[in-house]
Amino acid sequence: MKYMVFKDAKAASRKAYEIMQKKINAHSTLGLATGSTPIELYKEMIAGFEAGEFSYKDVKSFNLDEYVNIDKNHPESYYSFMHKNLFDHIDIKEENVHVPAPYTDDDEELARITAAYNAELENAVIDVQILGIGSNGHIAFNEPGTDFASTVHIVNLKENTIKDNCRFFDYDMAKVPKRAMTMGIKNILAAKTIILLAFGENKKDAVAKLLSGKEDIEYPCTSLVEHPEVYVLVDEAADPEK
Ligand code: PGA
Repeated sequence: MKYMVFKDAKAASRKAYEIMQKKINAHSTLGLATGSTPIELYKEMIAGFEAGEFSYKDVKSFNLDEYVNIDKNHPESYYSFMHKNLFDHIDIKEENVHVPAPYTDDDEELARITAAYNAELENAVIDVQILGIGSNGHIAFNEPGTDFASTVHIVNLKENTIKDNCRFFDYDMAKVPKRAMTMGIKNILAAKTIILLAFGENKKDAVAKLLSGKEDIEYPCTSLVEHPEVYVLVDEAADPEK
């Protein structure tokens, strides 16, 4: 694992973009994340595209997760997030982007959608996976206690995750969806290269666990310690040594 500390999120995201660019080519597959964390990286990708440095026209992408039973076009759906913050500004083709689509509350239908997304992932090779980290150490929506061998599944979100995310839903916990569909830890670990970004004081404890180098099922981020190519890029506020 390579650990790097930067002055701020912008500097870390510039480095993340540089690493990503070294690892991908015109036909690569990206694993993408939502949340506040990757926004600066997506700005770097857009700037690089606008400057003519890189075209995404033959690139494929797979997103980590999505809320269950949210309206696809809700402003806080991850489908909307990805289009607003990245896809609408680069030349990636709509048919090449994959965002989990659990837009139903019917459990049988959810099981079918989950299995289909897992099958798509098993047929793909993710060259670079972008990850944020939850204040509780979750990666994607793999909450504490998730089996490291898990594949795509439906999760009940933990209360602190709902609290962390209520800022996107008028600070009203009642409005935050309570379930999500997520890539499992096994799907994430299948990526060739993983770039994890962590910004802000509230990520410090989770980063400390990751840096401990010991697997701990209560901190899903520690599943990354045995992966052969992980970059952990943090800002000063998230650096546990500070
Ligand atoms: P954030 O979320 O980027 O909004 O902080 C990260 C995460 O929960 O994985």
